[in-house]
Amino acid sequence: MTNTLHKPGTILILLLLSILCCPAQNKRPVNINNLNKKWWKEAIVYQLYPRSFKDNDGDGIGDLKGIISKLDYIKSLGVTAVWLNPIYASPNDDNGYDISDYRNIMKDFGTMADFDHLLKGLHLRGIKLVMDLVVNHSSDEHEWFKQSRSSRTSPYRNYYHWWNAERGKPNYRWSFFDINSEAWKYDSLTNAYYLHYFSRKQPDLNWENPKLRQEIYGIMDFWLKKGIDGFRMDAFQFASKDTSFPALPAGYQKNIIKYYGMGPHLHDYLKEMNKQVFSKYNIMTVAEGAGSSFTDAHNLVDAQRNELDMAYHFEGMDIGNDPKGYSLLDFKNVYTRWDSAFASSGWLSIFLGNHDVPRMVSKFGNDHPEFREASSKMLTTFIMTMRGTPYYYNGDELGMANIRFDSIQDYKDIAAINGYNALKNKGGDVKGYIEQQKFISRDNARTPFQWNDSANAGFTTGKPWIKVNQDYKKVNEKAEEKDASSVLNYFKKVVKLRKQNPVFVYGKYTLLDKGNPDVYAYTRELNGVKMLVLLNFKSTIATIKTGINLNKAKLLIDNYGTPNNDGSLKPYEAVIYKL
Ligand code: NOJ
Repeated sequence: MTNTLHKPGTILILLLLSILCCPAQNKRPVNINNLNKKWWKEAIVYQLYPRSFKDNDGDGIGDLKGIISKLDYIKSLGVTAVWLNPIYASPNDDNGYDISDYRNIMKDFGTMADFDHLLKGLHLRGIKLVMDLVVNHSSDEHEWFKQSRSSRTSPYRNYYHWWNAERGKPNYRWSFFDINSEAWKYDSLTNAYYLHYFSRKQPDLNWENPKLRQEIYGIMDFWLKKGIDGFRMDAFQFASKDTSFPALPAGYQKNIIKYYGMGPHLHDYLKEMNKQVFSKYNIMTVAEGAGSSFTDAHNLVDAQRNELDMAYHFEGMDIGNDPKGYSLLDFKNVYTRWDSAFASSGWLSIFLGNHDVPRMVSKFGNDHPEFREASSKMLTTFIMTMRGTPYYYNGDELGMANIRFDSIQDYKDIAAINGYNALKNKGGDVKGYIEQQKFISRDNARTPFQWNDSANAGFTTGKPWIKVNQDYKKVNEKAEEKDASSVLNYFKKVVKLRKQNPVFVYGKYTLLDKGNPDVYAYTRELNGVKMLVLLNFKSTIATIKTGINLNKAKLLIDNYGTPNNDGSLKPYEAVIYKL
């Protein structure tokens, strides 16, 4: 295979590619009177990466007790829901996305009693809890896989995808994390290949097997009965497969999702899941990845289809992967097209960071000391003023930046490490690879949360599992809490503004000054309330032409305090007016 998929360092980009290729703008009519209000549309989701949030027992790894000790902090942010990355039992090949027991807690993180306390503590504070559910694949250390692997006649054999070797080698399938980019792994024990779209330790579950599906619905019920408030369905677009595994056509790499995702029975399974599980609870369900077109995304989340509730698409994240920068015109175009396509049905997530991508400020803003604060605040303003449910990644509220490790020894992520080793085996440019990882590696977003200026940023009393960003002396929660003009306090203000103004949740979005390469300007409108948002995405002074007379406008927020009186915007300035 010679294609970009096999170029080292493209694994992460591929995660983001999962996405793309959206057709022309959908022309559905906007009907803002029919708001179809839901709690999860109004939610502000805080994504919490447990491994790096707060370590309570000094082993260098964040844990549930650590999160519990910070519940009042989470509450103080004003967020209304937490999305917790996987906390289930796992050997941690992919930081918990390889689950070995869906009804138990990872030892590093604590116990089920800790989980119950955490859930109670969140609910007492009026905060919902959304769990990450990883059921496209399990760990190879899950009992199901151990049984499945043990013999061709095991009752668990069909819980996974096996291809007996006497049928010949199965048609090639690409794998996200495999060192050889090969999704079929030969296993001599039963002389067969098993499928793993992610790492070798993440075998794909066989959703075509009704018994497997019932097992998963039982697991969902187990957590929902505890009172959790929803699931983020990890990589679920890959769950259904054409089990004849036909040869892939030339050029399949250009649209991975088309050939790997949205399999033949995906919607049948989601409808079944919805009927048997989701419909019994008042929860939110999120589709991680939303197919390869607006139609796919609508088919996953439109209310009348009774499948999932909201799409978490990646087209926006695919912009900005080039360290040299990105075009704001492309950025505006993506968000405008998606907004328009979902204006009257379906619902979207809005985010600029998570545990799979670099830090928001380093990727979309500017983490140079001169601009880190202003650009963090500006990006926060964008997230909190767009239609869709905002997902805000922990640490971004402090303006945490990429760590930029320059040695492979510092990286912990399987994607970064396998990409490096694959390249090294081929004698490739590993130095260039590290340069690329400094910008794009997932580990940039996984460094410990910076609580204060004491050792290890107050994250742990032990040795942190991944190095702490050395900017913690300045960028930390304690310092920012005290500083009225900090990124943290700005975040709280904008969160409050969104909560007080439903126009930011449900209001019609209109792009202004479309061709302006520096400024993102738009209005949000609902039942006679109109807001104007002006965002300078550049490090230079910018001008705008919105055609709106601001004489009577009321200034709601400005990340610099006061706007210029000539209408220009300072570097990374963000302003919201009520018109
Ligand atoms: C998406 C998750 O966000 C990512 O961290 C993980 O590696 C893959 N799915 C596989 O589960």
